[in-house]
Amino acid sequence: MLRSLLAALAMGALVPLVALAQTPAPQPADSKPAEIKPEAKSAAPKAYIPGLEQFMNVILTEHNKLWFAGRARNWPLAAYELGEIKEVMSDVQDYVPVFKSLPLAEMMDAVIVKEVADLEKAIEAKDAKKFAAGFDRLSAACNACHQATENGFIVIKRPTRPVFTNQDFRPHDNRAR
Ligand code: HEC
Repeated sequence: MLRSLLAALAMGALVPLVALAQTPAPQPADSKPAEIKPEAKSAAPKAYIPGLEQFMNVILTEHNKLWFAGRARNWPLAAYELGEIKEVMSDVQDYVPVFKSLPLAEMMDAVIVKEVADLEKAIEAKDAKKFAAGFDRLSAACNACHQATENGFIVIKRPTRPVFTNQDFRPHDNRAR
């Protein structure tokens, strides 16, 4: 009795999913066609595009790691993290070029490209002092865009501790130890 009840419940849950996945969707007698919009039935599955805040929270994590890599003079890791920041920024330009009618892609170029390039040079030169100054200028650039987009309440600063404690920021070479 319980088993058949569970089976019936499982079927009930599955039918709408199956209907969504198939084109044209079968219409079992007990399904509720009103819940499935016609366009959802025919359209290909929609690609998932993260919201801008999700891209930004990834950038925030990398910004944190970048700081501790640079502080530890782990220059390959610092270069890597800055590269990741650049990658996500480029994703933002591709996927969220316009945000609340603001030309975000162009703002990205205008506001932060120079700071990223300067920081890259400091990392290449393994210059800890220039790295720290460049990191602060990068954070200022983050904040400049937040202000320009009426998000001035989002303020980026130097971190005081790593987000994750299970990643070792000290320099390691690629040789097995
Ligand atoms: C070109 C503009 C621009 C630049 C440059 C920029 N941001 Fe943002 N950021 C935004 C916008 C716009 C939002 C608000 C997103 C929303 O409302 O969904 C935001 C939101 C955020 C948030 C809030 C996310 C949350 O859910 O709390 C964080 C954190 C953040 N940015 C970090 C950074 C960091 C770190 C940098 C620099 C390395 C940076 N941002 C550079 C435009 C920018």
